Amino acid sequence: MARITASVYTSHVPAIGAAIDLGKTGEPYWQPLFAGYDKSKQWLKDNTPDVIFLVYNDHATAFSLDIIPTFAIGCAAEFQPADEGWGPRPVPVVKGHPELAAHIAQSVIQDDFDLTIVNKMAVDHGLTVPLSLMCGQPREWPCPVIPFAVNVVQYPVPSGRRCFNLGRAIRKAVASYDRPLKVQIWGTGGMSHQLQGPRAGLINREWDTAFLDQLIADPATLAQKPHIDYVREAGSEGIELVMWLIARGAMNDEFDKRAPRVAHRFYHVPASNTAVGHLILENT
Ligand code: DHB
Ligand code: FE
Repeated sequence: MARITASVYTSHVPAIGAAIDLGKTGEPYWQPLFAGYDKSKQWLKDNTPDVIFLVYNDHATAFSLDIIPTFAIGCAAEFQPADEGWGPRPVPVVKGHPELAAHIAQSVIQDDFDLTIVNKMAVDHGLTVPLSLMCGQPREWPCPVIPFAVNVVQYPVPSGRRCFNLGRAIRKAVASYDRPLKVQIWGTGGMSHQLQGPRAGLINREWDTAFLDQLIADPATLAQKPHIDYVREAGSEGIELVMWLIARGAMNDEFDKRAPRVAHRFYHVPASNTAVGHLILENT
């Protein structure tokens, strides 16, 4: 049987990708940010899974405003890095896992979550920047990745509660796969940031810290938080954080004998317009 071994949570910011690609990670502005991921890179080397299920949001790259799936699962054998206006990032092609993705789609859709099946899709910074932060600049990503795109761009976006319950359904789906795969689930985006309007540049360290605390200790209650709280307290793009609840919902919960263990926690401001939060939880 496959199982979820760990979850990784991290912000994504296009400028982080550019800093890596242009060799600027040692510059004074960026050095403290990347230092927070040194431990994570080593952790991933020591705990390389067979598959990463990567929850992220597309930024009107693969999906324009013509079609906006709420939840989209990438079932293809590979996904090309997207051109977001400056050419595609010089990062490896993302290899998928069509067999496990199809199994998860089957199980989760039969569990009443209406996923969109995607057989061709380019992946933008929402997916490639978390991979770069955790892996550096390898010739190939360390394992296959199943992209799972969530609409957090155009309202109505899914509730935290629905995301958390979806995570539980993904956990069940992985557990019913009949090959002994170690699967990590990553929740990405956030933390507090607002890119437009009069409050552009908003950062809320106190709120972000409380979010991380509650994500670790009491995610079921955190999942009840309404959208308006995210937008008011963490800015318009802070809503990306609902995606972290999908990853947390897939981890051990209060009914398991052992709560997940915190392997690493990091917070840094600023990266471009964003507060960067990062967490690694292990199922023990
Ligand atoms: C920034 C943050 C994002 O989440 C994003 O998608 C684009 C830009 C930023 O802080 O610059
Ligand atoms: Fe974003």
